Amino acid sequence: MIIVNDDITPAVGEITHLSGRILDSKGDPIRDALVEIWQVDNNGIYLHSGSNNHAARDSNFQGFGRFLTGSSGEYYFRTIKPTLYPGRTRHIHFAIKMKGREKWTTQCYVKGEPQNERDFVLKGVTDLEARESLIVDFSPVKGSRIGELAARFNIVLGFTPVV
Ligand SMILES: [Fe+2]
Repeated sequence: MIIVNDDITPAVGEITHLSGRILDSKGDPIRDALVEIWQVDNNGIYLHSGSNNHAARDSNFQGFGRFLTGSSGEYYFRTIKPTLYPGRTRHIHFAIKMKGREKWTTQCYVKGEPQNERDFVLKGVTDLEARESLIVDFSPVKGSRIGELAARFNIVLGFTPVV
């Protein structure tokens, strides 16, 4: 998501290696799950043409990514740590598409972000254990000279709340 086509200028932001597994309610990996993510760029702007302040968008940021899981159920994206935009805490949208099932959506949040306390979507998940499962560490990658982060967000169908 941080490189558009063959562009040599990467997106602005804190580069984040975002990965996790798509699991069924028994904890078994789901293969052939299409994992889609979308989020704001470093200026808090979505790719969507109707988004606020669209002219200030970082054109080097993809804004949308798609990954098809293999037998391990694992997905991986190279993106940036999402920034804040008015009214919301930092979050990344996920849609999971699987054959024979309805599209399924959720959101991933950043641990330690003070705005989490005030976010109406996150607070809308009233079960605390379910809410916590959406909030993950964005931790520094050891030895990275450019300050990369890594985040691990597992999605368990039937447990991870739909957001
Ligand atoms: Fe959003």
